[in-house]
Amino acid sequence: MNMQAKLELEGKTYSLPIVVGTEGEKAVDVSALRAETGYITLDESYGNTGACQSKITFIDGEKGILRYRGIPIEELAGKSSFVETAFLIIYGHLPNHREMDRFIALLQENQILHENMKHHFEGFPPSAHPMAILSAMINAASCFYPELMHGHRGDFEIQAARLISQVRTIAAFSYRKSKGEPIIYPKKSYDYTANFLHMLFSDPNDDYEIKPEAARALDLIFLLHADHEQNCSTSTVRMVASSQANLYASCAAGVCALWGPLHGGANQAVVEMLQQIHQEGDDGSKFIAAAKNKASGRKLMGFGHRVYKHYDPRAKIIKTACDEVLNALRIDDPLLAIAKKLEAAALQDEYFIERKLYPNVDFYSGIIMRALGIPVEMFTVIFSIGRMPGWIANYKEIAEDPKSRICRPRQIYVGTGQHGYVPLTQRA
Ligand code: ACO
Repeated sequence: MNMQAKLELEGKTYSLPIVVGTEGEKAVDVSALRAETGYITLDESYGNTGACQSKITFIDGEKGILRYRGIPIEELAGKSSFVETAFLIIYGHLPNHREMDRFIALLQENQILHENMKHHFEGFPPSAHPMAILSAMINAASCFYPELMHGHRGDFEIQAARLISQVRTIAAFSYRKSKGEPIIYPKKSYDYTANFLHMLFSDPNDDYEIKPEAARALDLIFLLHADHEQNCSTSTVRMVASSQANLYASCAAGVCALWGPLHGGANQAVVEMLQQIHQEGDDGSKFIAAAKNKASGRKLMGFGHRVYKHYDPRAKIIKTACDEVLNALRIDDPLLAIAKKLEAAALQDEYFIERKLYPNVDFYSGIIMRALGIPVEMFTVIFSIGRMPGWIANYKEIAEDPKSRICRPRQIYVGTGQHGYVPLTQRA
């Protein structure tokens, strides 16, 4: 059915096409509005703007539904692995045996960084945040692959595998450097996630003992972060990709967007908040009171979401995994009890109920990462590793769309009107 919306402007009626998604989501297509009427739409912070049509991820924020390529996140969390899910997200279907073997082989073949990359790590001060190193190094790595310099072109399959594999190597190298410890190279005998733990924690003469529960928990964290449709960092990747910048440049920009505490940086902020509550001996009530008071400048980190007005399905899975992994590793982290208390109090508090604020993916993930011995500065880096398939899949949608145009929002200018140049000598 060809539905149309009617818009009345200055006494004239215009017809605007309505676009309906697979799950019945409706949008008014305003792309021709300015040409026809002279008006643009204004939606600051994109609270109600669909920036693209995408086949990758579906979210129903009211019902708490998340699906990658049509498969519910709960099923993938229970049955799949990060690497298999990465293939699904990028290529649109679950891999068969042959595809899976090839994908794993490509990840392994491309896991080592160019040896000259090691010199780049030397230049950062020990206090450098690993997210700064990560985005800089992703860009630096692109210089070693001249084919990337031709924008969208090149062998996408290899570029994608190389980036997924190398982002993990870069992340581990940054961590080792920040501790002043020697770099540990990846080993072909380990799978993707175990290899990361090996590069983080092994010594040159002594391999770190990789506990299966720890590797599984980290793999689950990667998988749950693998895509989340048009969030701040993914929109950034699409924005950069739309200029036909290369895959590495686009994803390095995604890392920068993810860094902020309102987005991926929230996992670090949550643990810092819980530590502060613990140190102050607060039972959480003082912090909740402050989070409700705008003047305090505080927020309950790990709570609230632009799209979810219901419990974030990823948070539900992570909360269960958090209990399981802490039990399995026999860790009693006081921050977990504080987090649960905060959650229970917030979910009964009128302020949070009215605003439909629930725990998001970041609320419990940091407690798992702490249990694995991952330092707090690395939490958002872990998020970046997980999100890489989503960024790559979104980049691919743009690169493969012959109708793709450069992303270029408009604005309403509200500055001063035209006035003349005043020479410096005549200025007050
Ligand atoms: N604590 C206290 N109040 C909150 C919180 C919070 N965590 N989140 C939202 N609110 C309040 C806002 O102050 C606002 O109140 P008002 O209506 O009285 O002005 C109302 O709830 C609506 O919130 P907005 O800020 O308008 O929601 P928006 O969609 O712009 O922001 C965001 C979403 C950034 C996630 C916000 O909820 C937040 O800052 N949360 C804490 C940071 C965080 O956990 N970020 C991670 C998000 S998940 C991710 O990116 C992976």
